[in-house]
Amino acid sequence: MTTVVREPADFRQACDDARTSSHRVGLVPTMGALHRGHFSLIDEARKHADFIAATIFVNPLQFAPDEDLDRYPRTFESDVSGCRERGVDLVFAPEPESMYPAQFQTQVSVGELTKPLEGEFRPAHFDGVTTVVAKLFNLTGPCAAMFGRKDYQQWKILSRLALDLDMPIEVVGCPIVREPDGLALSSRNRYLSASERERALGIVSGLRRACDAWTEGERSSDMLRSLAGEQVRSEFDRVDYVAAVDPDTLLTAVAQPTRLLIAVAAHLGTTRLIDNVVLGEDPRP
Ligand code: PAJ
Repeated sequence: MTTVVREPADFRQACDDARTSSHRVGLVPTMGALHRGHFSLIDEARKHADFIAATIFVNPLQFAPDEDLDRYPRTFESDVSGCRERGVDLVFAPEPESMYPAQFQTQVSVGELTKPLEGEFRPAHFDGVTTVVAKLFNLTGPCAAMFGRKDYQQWKILSRLALDLDMPIEVVGCPIVREPDGLALSSRNRYLSASERERALGIVSGLRRACDAWTEGERSSDMLRSLAGEQVRSEFDRVDYVAAVDPDTLLTAVAQPTRLLIAVAAHLGTTRLIDNVVLGEDPRP
């Protein structure tokens, strides 16, 4: 049975009760508009836990004024059905007013990891993410929390957050789920026109090109970055970044790296897509 709760206190109580009954809690934080990428996190959570809590909250704090908060897809009823079908035990779907009541004024902020890549183009974004996720971690209590490596930097930052603040949370990074043609699933893919959907594959071609060069022995970060970048630039309207960095620090990689993160953010019309691959670790996208 799937229970839906709206109030933070009820969510905390339900998680406490689950642990009292000797369950291990698995947490899957989302902003809703659930797709197979999100559902894969629920499946992963089952490997770590036997009481699954999903949260659905479009967090206003992580959207800049010029971003897509208002048009962010909201499909609550089908999200809850999807959770029910997959045996999620608890869905927490708070209103913004109960997460951020009047007088709310605390912010959780992680350091260096939040500065490059997404941090450069969405300056207040990660403070919004870390603040809401810190609240979710505190409400949930000891648990295993699932995050997709689609948002690679977010996963790294949230792992750091839990470690630095001694939170009893096992942060798990889960593989990227892709369409058969390679496009990473995203709630924002629904905004792409038919022709943009085709051009979106420029990211996948770029990542694959870097992957293939890596397999053939290329180890120059600059070369791998520009191989990926050419493909992305040829299809996308605007490219925020194509980076080749150390997968742990997100900074310049050492010469001859054994692992290398290729991360991309680019725009097609009004839609912004991100994707990545860790060369030396991930399968070819
Ligand atoms: P949202 O974009 O809804 O994503 C929720 C989780 O699903 C994230 O951990 C994200 O990385 C994962 N995810 C999305 N697409 C995926 C894919 N194709 N494959 C695997 N995992 C995928 O990320 C957020 O929400 C928010 O920032 C949140 C963490 C909930 C805080 O508000």
